[in-house]
Amino acid sequence: MAPGEFFGFLGPNGAGKTTTINAVTGLANYQSGRVRVFGHDVTSDYRRSRAEIGLVPQEFNFDPFLSAEQILEFEGGYFGIPHRETKKRASELLEVFGLSEKRKDGYKRLSGGMKRRLLIARALMHNPRILILDEPTAGVDLELRHQLWDFLRRLNREGKTLFLTTHYIEEAEKLCTRVGVIHQGRMVGLDSTAKLIREISADRIVFYLKKEMTFLPEAAAGLGLRLEESGRRISFEEKAGLVPRVLKTLQALDQEVEKIDVEHPTLEDAFLKLTGKNESYIRPLMPSHLEMPEEK
Ligand SMILES: Nc1ncnc2c1ncn2[C@@H]1O[C@H](COP(=O)(O)OP(=O)(O)OP(=O)(O)O)[C@@H](O)[C@H]1O
Ligand SMILES: [Mg+2]
Repeated sequence: MAPGEFFGFLGPNGAGKTTTINAVTGLANYQSGRVRVFGHDVTSDYRRSRAEIGLVPQEFNFDPFLSAEQILEFEGGYFGIPHRETKKRASELLEVFGLSEKRKDGYKRLSGGMKRRLLIARALMHNPRILILDEPTAGVDLELRHQLWDFLRRLNREGKTLFLTTHYIEEAEKLCTRVGVIHQGRMVGLDSTAKLIREISADRIVFYLKKEMTFLPEAAAGLGLRLEESGRRISFEEKAGLVPRVLKTLQALDQEVEKIDVEHPTLEDAFLKLTGKNESYIRPLMPSHLEMPEEK
């Protein structure tokens, strides 16, 4: 990762995102390779490397006996920030995140969105150069999500390096200049967001048909056509010379095309291609599990 970058780290559940973050922040051991944060090795120079990082973890890991304000102040103490400076920063960050009124409340009395904001405030206490956010917008309402986006964009403009994981692929597409896709512990894609989309997925051409088509006849086989459920839309990935061939085939089938559309690929298309189809994690229930006990 380059300094100043806004990097998106994507991958399905269990791909290894949190584990990677844990390796970078010294919470997990690794058997091979080396991790350095702004030049500091995370094992041999743990303190210096950790001081560069603000970590927003996926799970809430607050001390249940502390108030919001204490949570921030303890964090300042942990990073060796002088007491007065810690007080000042905690109060500023509570203000920035709209938590001033809740500062005396234990974290259990905060709503889910407030807890997320507190996690980010805490990560910023020691003014780190890089902010690592592990699914910061999970379970966050639309308004707060937009506010967080604006906030993260501003931090990045002001020079902070950002590393974000999210399951909202659209969010990464909007925010991140470069993305990496991890699947089963391996990087399967790493490029600028725009390039990754362009290289992995082509535009899709959509033909709207005048008459309903119930199935794709043999003549259309091999063209990579997808007939959509309504029977009025046929789509395919743009390839040189394919449009006239599809048109010809449709004509031969006595089909008229009413309208043509081009759908541009999104990061989600690229993501799905890179991570492939997953085996289902959830197995169907055996019929015996579904039977209700007889009423007596
Ligand atoms: N490089 C690795 N070597 C061995 N085990 C790994 C490796 N990376 C991840 N794992 C294991 O895979 C499991 C899932 O990893 P992890 O929690 O990092 O997934 P995740 O991508 O954060 O998923 P989610 O989106 O659900 O949070 C964990 O049990 C972890 O120990
Ligand atoms: Mg995770």
